[in-house]
Amino acid sequence: MGQIKAAAMNFKTPFYVIHKNELDDNYKKLTSALEKHWNNYIIGYSYKTNALPWIIKHFDSLGCYAETVSEDEYELAKLVGVTKNKIIYNGPIKTKESFLEAVQNECIVNIDSQREIDWLDEVKEEKKSIGIRINFDIEKMCPGQSQCPNEGGRFGFCYENGELGKAIKQIREKKVNISGIHLHTSSKTRSLDIYRAIANVACKVKEEFSLDLDYVDIGGGFFGGLSTKPQFEEYISIMEDILSKSFDKKKTKLIIEPGMAVIGAPISYVTSVIDVKDTEFNRFVVTDGTRTSIDPLMTKSSYFYSLIIDGERIVHPKQIISGYTCMEHDRLFEGNNMPTLCIGDKIVYDKVGAYTMCLTPLFIKYFPDVYLENNGEYQLVRKAWKPEQYVMNSMIED
Ligand SMILES: Cc1ncc(COP(=O)(O)O)c(C=O)c1O
Repeated sequence: MGQIKAAAMNFKTPFYVIHKNELDDNYKKLTSALEKHWNNYIIGYSYKTNALPWIIKHFDSLGCYAETVSEDEYELAKLVGVTKNKIIYNGPIKTKESFLEAVQNECIVNIDSQREIDWLDEVKEEKKSIGIRINFDIEKMCPGQSQCPNEGGRFGFCYENGELGKAIKQIREKKVNISGIHLHTSSKTRSLDIYRAIANVACKVKEEFSLDLDYVDIGGGFFGGLSTKPQFEEYISIMEDILSKSFDKKKTKLIIEPGMAVIGAPISYVTSVIDVKDTEFNRFVVTDGTRTSIDPLMTKSSYFYSLIIDGERIVHPKQIISGYTCMEHDRLFEGNNMPTLCIGDKIVYDKVGAYTMCLTPLFIKYFPDVYLENNGEYQLVRKAWKPEQYVMNSMIED
């Protein structure tokens, strides 16, 4: 997707591009896998992964629910016109007011903590239905694959130490129906093993607590749009094999909450070379992009990139491609034996749609333009922030 069409070559860099066909084709693969293996499903698009307004509205138009984890995200879903009960509300930071409203509106609300159980006392009698997030020892089931191998996960109610059992008992005593379980687990590997483990826990919990569930929400954390990684078809077929032993497809919905899998691959970031300088140690190619826009947590060791250059170039043994910020470690990659780059050349980074735009700091420069690319036509879907947007909502002395 690195091939940015001529139409975009004169746009002011840096900018992001959303490749609509790639997004829609990949999404279609997801719905096809679900239709084939569990044709009673809900896809909740994970707002936290990238909540650019065009993107969240587009997923709404594709039929997704909004998967939200804060009052701000919950309100954002309503603001962009998501139907009031097509919101999934997760996480520990819900406010009481938004929690009660969401339950009242028959959203899918998954309780994460004790205080939410207490709030149930204030829900009107006829609307008393809730989901519960399960905390379980994924490291034991998938050694070396969990994010916190020695310390365990921190969300939901712990199955192993009996906290889940206590929470279920309390909720039942309040005459509230437990209509769903939520098992999102972030992993280091996004492997099929993780989903085998999740499905097994779902079955075990259902049987042990005699739950009559309208939904099993397995969360996000999948790969998507990468041919070398597990495919949607594989994930969902594994879930089908295991879940169908304890659940009836017609009765229990499968909910998935993809973020990275649906928005990671179809977004590129386009930058230009603005300077080339030689020092005692290196040739630095300075660009108008920054590592913080494609890897804000600075954890990745390599990026998908391509060059857009004109004419023949001699090869240079070592060029350090750098960002615009004043942080020394804003260095994107080392080009070894790569064509010698010159001012005006473009470097395009691909597959940068997840946990980038939403985590980029307002450091030195503000948010860049975002274009939608649809069959080679470009449309601006977010105008770059200027100081005017930056000062919005601030009180400044005269
Ligand atoms: C509850 C929940 N659902 C969905 C997601 C989306 O995960 P991903 O972007 O890895 O698909 C996350 C990410 O942390 C999450 O916490």
